[in-house]
Amino acid sequence: MLAAIGAIMVFLWFLWLLSRRKLYIASWQLPGPPALLPIIGNGFTFMCPATDVLKQLLKITEPYPSPLRLWIGPRLVTFIKDPDQLQKVMQSSKYTVKSDVYRFLEPFMGKGLFTLTGPRHKVQRKLLQPLFGPRVLESVSAMFQKHALNLVQTLEDQVGSGCFDVLHSLHQSAFEATVDILLENANTDNPDYKLIPGYVRRFYHIFSQRVSTFWLHSGLLYRLSAYYKEQQMMVELASKCIEEVASQQLPEILKRKEGATKCCQTRSTPSVLEIMVELFKENPASLTEEEFKDHMMTFFATSQDTQSSALAFTLMMLGMHKDIQNKVLQELQEVLDGRQLVTLEDAAKLKYMEMCINEAMRLFPVGPFLPRDVAQSFKLGNTTIPEGSSIILGIFNVHRDPNHWQKPEEFYPEHFAEEEIAQRHPYAFLPFSAGPRRCIAQQYSYVNMKIIIGQILIKYEINCPFTLRSMELMTDVSIRPIAGYLVQIFNRC
Ligand code: HEM
Repeated sequence: MLAAIGAIMVFLWFLWLLSRRKLYIASWQLPGPPALLPIIGNGFTFMCPATDVLKQLLKITEPYPSPLRLWIGPRLVTFIKDPDQLQKVMQSSKYTVKSDVYRFLEPFMGKGLFTLTGPRHKVQRKLLQPLFGPRVLESVSAMFQKHALNLVQTLEDQVGSGCFDVLHSLHQSAFEATVDILLENANTDNPDYKLIPGYVRRFYHIFSQRVSTFWLHSGLLYRLSAYYKEQQMMVELASKCIEEVASQQLPEILKRKEGATKCCQTRSTPSVLEIMVELFKENPASLTEEEFKDHMMTFFATSQDTQSSALAFTLMMLGMHKDIQNKVLQELQEVLDGRQLVTLEDAAKLKYMEMCINEAMRLFPVGPFLPRDVAQSFKLGNTTIPEGSSIILGIFNVHRDPNHWQKPEEFYPEHFAEEEIAQRHPYAFLPFSAGPRRCIAQQYSYVNMKIIIGQILIKYEINCPFTLRSMELMTDVSIRPIAGYLVQIFNRC
């Protein structure tokens, strides 16, 4: 009897291996770190504190040329860090789709633009693109100014009082701005609201912990973990708050819109919610009520941490490099010519400041590694990357590759001088990703970040007590410096 069960098990095991033969053939053709244990592969490498996972990934991929292979659990993963190969993968939605792990974000974002895949994504992306276009930018830039000035005022308490974590203030301000811009509601005094920015951050933390711990990929095991309970509590509270604001605002917006055909005729600053209502009314077949809600939650969750983190790193870098900070200030003063408010037109002229933001995002990209799944086998160099395997796009690696950057480990804004950009591979710098899944809000973010940095620098001098090297020793590769985003500020005389 036992022998029969054993024989059946061996036969099933053999069938399983046979069904995966294309994965094994591809893996033999690719270089990569030894993965001697069956099922677990290189998975052991990632059994470490959450703060070390990204460093571990860099360490094991560093010695091998691109593309290279990893076995993460039973999953074959091709790691790509060459700009030509990144371009091939990122430009096409035929071969790859967003990784299956993005479904872990669905409890918060539903099937919004970030998590959607396939033809539905294409339709929705086209529909929503105007939300971040020039017409909207023109009107929301006044909101950017308003919240940048509020932030400057809040920072007053920190003047001359030693080091503080600037990310905390940036998060709070980004949250208030997001609720105002997305939902037309500036009243964030509700004590429940105040918890949401922390919840959004914790949700991302749980997400990355789940992605890097392969047994938590199973829905069943995840439900048994403490993370699940915590996630449910946070998601419920956050969506309740957002839904409450939206349901209070919607009747008001609909009343305003009665008789008007275009949003700019109804209010000088149309909120994203108002434009969404307009889109919804114009395209009832393409945008369902559920999708409408999911997109709002998605914009809410994607707009805060991304900009705050890029801003915090830029401020730290400027605080470490006083000569560069002075150059940014000089450009700002020339553009403003005695005025105190940074406008949309000014933002377009702040070229050197943009070089600094880019350089901070090069060193510390918000998305250092982007996962994809292979939907259709395709050739990459001499290897066929098989359907059913996964890909990791090594954005962090290409951002620090000495083949593309003169001073890869330094903060050197001249990397973004026009002549440097012209000579460089376009896929060597990918802070907003690229191709059909690139960030929808790139321009929007640049304008907002420039207005915030401009308003801060007019008022304060920034200092950061670290060197880049000492700070990097304390980061978990881009996501956050473990000690906090510490800066000091002083009034400019
Ligand atoms: C400095 C600021 C930002 C950075 C660096 C950034 C970065 C990114 C990156 C790397 C992706 C691609 C993710 C992937 O492929 O897995 C992405 C996608 C996305 N971002 Fe951003 N983002 C920023 C700001 C924003 C803001 C302000 C919003 C919304 C208001 C936003 C909304 C989105 C959405 C909806 C997507 C999915 C687009 C799609 O798949 O079609 N992002 N972002």
